[in-house]
Amino acid sequence: MDEGDEVILPTPTYASYIEQVTLAGGTSVHVPLTDNWQLDLGAIEQAVTSRTRALMICSPGNPTGTVFSNDEILDLCRLAVARDFVIILDEAYDYIVYDGEEPVNPFKYDEFRDHVISVSSLSKKFAMTGWRVGWVTAAKKWMEQIMKVHDATAICSPTPSQIAAIAAMEGDQTCVDEMCCALRERRDICCERLDRLGSYFSYVPPKGAFYVMAKYLFTDEDSHKVAVRLLEEAKVITIPGGAFGQGGDGHLRLSFGAEPHILHEAFDRIEQWVAGM
Ligand SMILES: Cc1ncc(COP(=O)(O)O)c(C=O)c1O
Repeated sequence: MDEGDEVILPTPTYASYIEQVTLAGGTSVHVPLTDNWQLDLGAIEQAVTSRTRALMICSPGNPTGTVFSNDEILDLCRLAVARDFVIILDEAYDYIVYDGEEPVNPFKYDEFRDHVISVSSLSKKFAMTGWRVGWVTAAKKWMEQIMKVHDATAICSPTPSQIAAIAAMEGDQTCVDEMCCALRERRDICCERLDRLGSYFSYVPPKGAFYVMAKYLFTDEDSHKVAVRLLEEAKVITIPGGAFGQGGDGHLRLSFGAEPHILHEAFDRIEQWVAGM
């Protein structure tokens, strides 16, 4: 990017994208997702300018748990081709889809290859967050540019991590299926417990990843204040929705990655806390 180039972020978005665009000297342009966290293609189209270089999304999504439909993704790819910008598709959670269709891989379509950069990670799939291994799939013209930055910043992923990554990818994948099953159970616990709190929170059930954006209905306070109160008074940690950009305020992002007994304990505390308000 050159200074002043724009990157469209459908929001709520993964908070680091906002910082990454700033770090690269760009300007992030926030386009709110719809009420049920789908892409608003009309609004995205209107936000495209001659300075638009990219649009960044993750699907399944952090923080919303949304899995964009294949039609939405393909329509977005068509727009990227027509208006000549690139879609940076973060696939960190690609293996955690609870309901619905298998997400489409735009690289299957020759016509989209120059307009999609896909980013993948071993962090979630193999619980290897600290090992720092991931990869990028992109056309040669993008890889040439990406390699310059990669070489100047990281040089390479640590060698022991690369060997571990090969072991993870070539080894028995049962652990991944088991993790998905465990997360599905935790997703269901989280939704059941939120349903019981229906007069205090509303939410869109997540279809993937392990997050839910819960809209609080009990106060008008900003999400940072509510998250700090919940932490200090009920000892439950959440992330303020406002950290994820426009459309995130008024929400708390809950992670249901923890074990069932911890989730139940957290919800017991939240129930007591809201009852005492
Ligand atoms: C959407 C998304 N992308 C990327 C990352 C970071 O991935 P990595 O550990 O591979 O840097 C995370 C981690 O929470 C994430 O939620």
